[in-house]
Amino acid sequence: MTDKLAFRWQGKRVLVTGHTGFKGGWLALWLAKLGAEVRGYALDPATNPNLFTVARVGSVVEDLRGDIRDAATLEAAMQDFAPEVVFHLAAQPLVRLSYEDPVGTYETNVIGTARVLDSVRRTPSARAVVCVTSDKCYENKEWAWGYRESDPLGGYDPYSSSKACEEIVTAAFRQSYFPVARLGQTGGHSTAVASARAGNVIGGGDWSADRLIPDLVRGFLSGEPVRIRRPQAIRPWQHVLEPLHGYIRLAEELLAANRDEAARFATAYNFGPSDDDTQPVAWIAEKMSTLWGNGAKWILDPDPGVHEAGYLKLDASRARADLGWTPHMRLESAIEWIVQWTRAWKSGADMHAFTLSQIEAYESLLQQ
Ligand SMILES: NC(=O)c1ccc[n+]([C@@H]2O[C@H](COP(=O)([O-])OP(=O)(O)OC[C@H]3O[C@@H](n4cnc5c(N)ncnc54)[C@H](O)[C@@H]3O)[C@@H](O)[C@H]2O)c1
Repeated sequence: MTDKLAFRWQGKRVLVTGHTGFKGGWLALWLAKLGAEVRGYALDPATNPNLFTVARVGSVVEDLRGDIRDAATLEAAMQDFAPEVVFHLAAQPLVRLSYEDPVGTYETNVIGTARVLDSVRRTPSARAVVCVTSDKCYENKEWAWGYRESDPLGGYDPYSSSKACEEIVTAAFRQSYFPVARLGQTGGHSTAVASARAGNVIGGGDWSADRLIPDLVRGFLSGEPVRIRRPQAIRPWQHVLEPLHGYIRLAEELLAANRDEAARFATAYNFGPSDDDTQPVAWIAEKMSTLWGNGAKWILDPDPGVHEAGYLKLDASRARADLGWTPHMRLESAIEWIVQWTRAWKSGADMHAFTLSQIEAYESLLQQ
């Protein structure tokens, strides 16, 4: 098994939900670069600026706007496109916002996922589905070990628990409508469904509220010291291209012509950094301030805010063993790439080209 992108995406029809967001934008650009025909389905970008506009994602991706909770619009987008692959990333992804709007968070993340999978039931062209959940889907025991895919699901706050629910919904749809035993069988079905649990993802082009890197960038640009809550909190930080490479590799296996072989991958996968790159918030803030220069500073915010996990690590052994997936970028480089991306944007560079150049540089790392 190799972790290089050997598969041919040329002409593959791929539906990406959440393409107007941070991860979905990078994924849509990467898939289009690999030659896929990509249709995106999402709400309007939630922030201004945003990656979708800045990197002109819509120039290479068919851009449909709609709500995943809206069955009729979603169904039309799915049926008319007849995708071979569905990457489901649309979500309400913010812990703090989930405290303010728990019902909306569950509606989008749980019912929305059920809507997407229900629509896939009537889409026989779909051979591979990857539902993107989160490292936060596990019942957090604040222990030193990384969570494995077999560990109990849970979630203290509405966002985390909604992602655990999304896992349960995905597993239920797989068992009920896309069972692995009937994949590719006569009278069976053709869709292999998996889920992907990745950690805290960082990269250029994220302007979300209440996330560490966007908060740092906003603060540095304004010249004010950045107030940081919970500097000792440990998270599985990774550059956005690392888990996206995992999602793409996973989809490649789910697409295997030998459907018995594909069935083996229709399960849950963690994608997380290596142990020595699992760092506290303060480490990131410090590195980012140093790299940024110009007197960039962070200070402790004594208000810890709402409850958030203090210690969270993922065990990605299954992805390594099954997919040959491993991290290729050290955290320090990821931070350098973010600073370079942000500087390029500030200087008025062509951010479509710049974002693609980072994807290309990452592809080179995969070849080493
Ligand atoms: N960014 C991270 O650190 C991180 C970590 C773990 C998991 N995730 C997961 O990755 C996925 C993408 O996250 P992101 O960071 O890119 O978030 P984001 O907020 O940047 O993007 C979310 C996307 O979902 C779309 N969306 C939201 N509600 C919708 C609805 N009701 N109907 C249709 N589209 C809707 C938005 O329009 C946007 O395109 C989410 O599932 C998130 O839970 C993100």
